[in-house]
Amino acid sequence: SRWEADALVIFGITGDLAQRMTIPALYRLERRGLLDGPIIGVAGSELTDAELVVRARKSVEEAGGPVIDAIFDRLAGRMSYLSGDATDPALYERLARMLTGRRRPLFYLSMPPSLFGPIVEGLGTARLTAQARVAVEKPFGHDLASAIELDRQLRQVLEEEQILRVDHFLGKEPVIELEYLRFANTAMAELWQRGRVESIQITMAETLGVGSRGTFYDKVGCLRDVVQNHLLLVLALVAMEPPVGPSAKDLWDKRVEVLRAIPAVEVGNYVRGQYAGYRQTPGVAPDSTTETYAALKLEINNWKWAGVPVYIRAGKHLPVKDTEVRLILKEPPRLGFMPDPRRVEPNQIVVRIDPLAGMRLQLCALGESDEWRTVPLDTIFARELGPAMPPYERLMLAALTGDSRPFARQDAIVESWRIVQPLLSYPPPVHPYPVGSWGPTEADRLVAGSLPWQAPWV
Ligand code: BG6
Repeated sequence: SRWEADALVIFGITGDLAQRMTIPALYRLERRGLLDGPIIGVAGSELTDAELVVRARKSVEEAGGPVIDAIFDRLAGRMSYLSGDATDPALYERLARMLTGRRRPLFYLSMPPSLFGPIVEGLGTARLTAQARVAVEKPFGHDLASAIELDRQLRQVLEEEQILRVDHFLGKEPVIELEYLRFANTAMAELWQRGRVESIQITMAETLGVGSRGTFYDKVGCLRDVVQNHLLLVLALVAMEPPVGPSAKDLWDKRVEVLRAIPAVEVGNYVRGQYAGYRQTPGVAPDSTTETYAALKLEINNWKWAGVPVYIRAGKHLPVKDTEVRLILKEPPRLGFMPDPRRVEPNQIVVRIDPLAGMRLQLCALGESDEWRTVPLDTIFARELGPAMPPYERLMLAALTGDSRPFARQDAIVESWRIVQPLLSYPPPVHPYPVGSWGPTEADRLVAGSLPWQAPWV
C-alpha cells in the first residue's frame, strides 16, 4: 500500500514562503477534508501555539477568500509550535517526543539549503527518518557542484525515494497538462516533432521587479531563479518521449532522457539583462552585475528534435505577466493556390501556463479583401475543466499522500545544472534595459534565422 504521512512537520513555519503559500494551502486542504494528523511548525522565534495560530489565520486571510471559522478551527486544532535552533540536537529530541506514536512524518523544509544538511542529520540522529519523507524547497544548489554536494548531504541520511524536491512549476495544472495534451492526442503528436516544428519559444515574463527580495535575488539572478529549474523542467515536458507507464520512475526516466540530450549552452548563445534601477534596490550591490533577464538558445540533440532551435527568455519588469510555451510550425511548402502568393505567418501552438492557463492554435485564414489573417483557436482550461488546484496545494497533497511524481528527481536537477553551467562559469556582460520593455535588444540576435520573439498570448 502507498505511503501516507501521519504527521506533518514544517521547518521555517514563520518564513515568507510558509506564510504566503504553505499555510494557505493547508487551509484549503482542510476545507476539502484532505488533512489528517498533527501539524508541527518549527522556527527560531519564541512563540506559543496560540501565537502560531494567530499568524496562520493572518496568512490565510491575506491569501484571499473567506475564512470559514469551523474549518480554520479544525486546522488550528492540529497545529503546535516548536521553537529552536536547527543546528541544536536538543531540538530533535523535543521533536521526537512530540512525534511519539507517529511513524511516517513528512518533514517539509521551508529553509535555506545551507540548513538541509544539518536538519536531516538532526532528524537522523533522533531516529526520525526511518519511514519519513523530506520535502525541500528550491534552490537545490547554486551550481552543478553545489547541487551534487547538497544531495550528498541529504543522502547520508535519506534514500532518494524519501526526498521530495519541490519545484512549484510541477504543481501547475497546465504544466502537468502537457503530458495529456501531447500523449492523449494523436493530432498533437503528429505536429509535435522536428518535421513540423521550426522553433520553440518559451517565455516567462513578469511585470514585477525583485521587490523586497534584493538580498536573496542579487546572489541568484534570473538564470538560477527560474531558468535552470522551472523552465528547463517545462522544456523537458515539452520535448520528452511518452512514458511507458504511470509511475514516477516512468515519467522521470523520460524527462531525464531528454535533458541528457541537451548540450551545455554556449556562452555566445546567452544574453543577460538588468532592468534600470535594479542596483538601487535594498539588498542589491550598487555595482551588481546580476541579471534580471536571461535569454538563451539551445538545442536538443535527439532523433525527434535535432535541428529545432529552442529559445528561452525570462525576466522581471517586462511588459506583461505571462508564461507560455510556443511551438512555431514550419511554413506551408507552397502557396500557389493564392491569387497573390505571399508569405503567410507560420502556424503556432501555444500552451499558456500563466496567468490564464490554456491552449491556442494559431491558424491562417482568408480575410476580406483577399488578405490572409491569423485566427486563433483557443481553449481556456479552467472554463472547460473547472478551476485547477493551486500548485502549493497540489504539491502538499501529493507529498502527504506519497505521490512522488510531481517532485524533481536528482538526476534531472544535475542535468539541468550541467546545461547552464558554462553560463554561470563565464557569464557574458549584462545589458541594461528599461523597466517595462522586452529586455535588452541584444537578445534579438539569438533568434536570427528563426521567427523573431513573438508577443505572448495575453
Ligand atoms: C519563483 C521565483 O520560483 O517563481 C520568483 O523565485 C518568481 O522570482 C516566481 O517570481 C514565479 O512564480 P509564478 O508561479 O508566479 O510564475
